[in-house]
Amino acid sequence: MKCVDDFRLRLGTQELVPIMIGGMGVDISTSALALEAARLGGVGHISDAMVPTVTDRRFNTKYVKDKLKQYKFNVENSDKSVVQFDLGLLAEATRMHVGKTMEAKRGDGLVFINCMEKLTMNAPKDTLRTRMHAALDAGIDGITLAAGLHLGSFALMEDHPRFRDAKLGIIVSSLRALQLFLKKSARSNRLPDYVVVEGPLAGGHLGFGMDWAQYDLAAIVVEIRDWLRAEQLDIPLIPAGGVFTGSDATNFLEMGAGAVQVATRFTVARECGLPEKVQQEYFKANEDDIEVNQLSPTGYPMRMIKHCPAIGDGIRPNCEAYGYLLDAKGGCSYIDAYNREVAAHPGERRIKVWDKTCLCTQMRNFDCWTCGHNAYRLKDTTVRRDDGSYQLLSAEHVFQDYQYSKDHKIALPELESIVLA
Ligand SMILES: Cc1cc2nc3c(=O)[nH]c(=O)nc-3n(C[C@H](O)[C@H](O)[C@H](O)COP(=O)(O)O)c2cc1C
Repeated sequence: MKCVDDFRLRLGTQELVPIMIGGMGVDISTSALALEAARLGGVGHISDAMVPTVTDRRFNTKYVKDKLKQYKFNVENSDKSVVQFDLGLLAEATRMHVGKTMEAKRGDGLVFINCMEKLTMNAPKDTLRTRMHAALDAGIDGITLAAGLHLGSFALMEDHPRFRDAKLGIIVSSLRALQLFLKKSARSNRLPDYVVVEGPLAGGHLGFGMDWAQYDLAAIVVEIRDWLRAEQLDIPLIPAGGVFTGSDATNFLEMGAGAVQVATRFTVARECGLPEKVQQEYFKANEDDIEVNQLSPTGYPMRMIKHCPAIGDGIRPNCEAYGYLLDAKGGCSYIDAYNREVAAHPGERRIKVWDKTCLCTQMRNFDCWTCGHNAYRLKDTTVRRDDGSYQLLSAEHVFQDYQYSKDHKIALPELESIVLA
């Protein structure tokens, strides 16, 4: 019986353990988590979501505070079109986050950045171009183009000296999306180095409608694999979404996948950015605590734990400090939902908004608990402490469990001994 370690992902001249930890914004897939994947010979992702906020936390910069100061005059205004990102500062923050991560890289693996194209930031093309160029400047090994795939992204990077040497990949959920991307980027004369095929059981935003349950990852992978073969295109496919055991991963590798992308099992790793209190909620979640809803202002369905604080919270939009989802006209569907509730409940201090969530604020505060469908199985991946809480795992433990386990077995960690002060 084979295991993941019997396979290798080939990207150019590089041979990698075929495990990719997916990007999890905002700083849930931390630099520390990505670096562990690279040290162990696989691929890790940092995220480019809200990087100025992340550098403020990591390096004590003041990007958010300064932006809020600059736009404070607009806080009460529902028209956010004046709120702009300073592209120079955005590039500086990205270079700092990426550069410091790459400096710390050890081992034979790679660190990529998950580039969330849905972060329209009041100027979709300019901010996307700036983020991608800055990541390349700072030495990122590769860029994975995610949510809201912008068909012209390759063209936006074409003039960068590393355009042909960095690994560039895309995330799609259908053959049609892949075909469209290839058609649109044909002019740049460069194919993606890998294609992540994300199915309906993934965490974060889904590339499906609310009929997501009718789709099957394996079926989509087979369809794309067969089409690529017929077109004689040799691009590694990387299935993602619901790959929970080493055997799940091995099954895909035996079908011809180049690697798998996984995330949910790492949400309970010590290196992950979620606070431990939230990680305990992930462990405790049962299957019926997890839902796919339409609360994200991006318009994409998103999977989350139903009782997370983000749901129903009617916080005032924080676009002067954040504003990552503002479209080119300065709009966001949370602002509309919030204003509607304010108008309907005059004089009320704390209103509720049930149909949308202020995703920037909630993700930044780790109050939006997005997860994959299989998060309810996390409790089976660890041991319980005497106080009933679940023991966190090391990223190395989870990675190696994927790498070596067979027969759908999941290796449990040793119970930590309690060190008395
Ligand atoms: C907490 C969490 C946050 C995520 N955030 C992002 C994100 O910012 N961008 C993205 O492209 N995918 C995101 N994803 C999707 C993962 O990168 C990955 O493709 C998917 O969750 C893999 O399925 P699994 O969680 O069942 O292993 C997120 C997933 C989780 C669990």
